[in-house]
Amino acid sequence: MEDKKEGITGEYGETAGKEEFEPSLVGFFCNWCTSTAADLAGTTRLQYPPNIRPIRVMCSGAVDPVYVLRALCSGADGVIIGGCPPGDCHYISGNYKTRRRMAALKTILKTLGLDDDRVWVRWISASEGAKFARTMREFTEAMRKKGPNPLKNRWSI
Ligand code: FES
Repeated sequence: MEDKKEGITGEYGETAGKEEFEPSLVGFFCNWCTSTAADLAGTTRLQYPPNIRPIRVMCSGAVDPVYVLRALCSGADGVIIGGCPPGDCHYISGNYKTRRRMAALKTILKTLGLDDDRVWVRWISASEGAKFARTMREFTEAMRKKGPNPLKNRWSI
């Protein structure tokens, strides 16, 4: 069991002293909007930090809060969920579900003693490559200021 936990931790990277801290971040991005915005940011050569491991999902509504908890407990310092702006979800109401679920998740995170600002939800449409790059810079900088996730390595779910 211990070996598996160490393997997961290694996957998300290690952290050194606070001065050199580089957060390991996970992003769940909806296929139709935020992932396309990420592609646009790349093709237009917009710069953003390489700290985020993007995971493409068909809709932000497919992101189960357990995925977010799993990432945080496995060593991610922050998780960002990107979806279509309200009213633009390709599956009608997926992003509204995301909004409700993540609000509930933040309550759970508070009870675990974790700063709920480690989980961000942002609506970034396909044409907003610049907004995607800016949001990733802001998210990375915010997590860098927060320092390492205190849940890191404490639990394995
Ligand atoms: S398809 Fe993008 S949030 Fe639902």
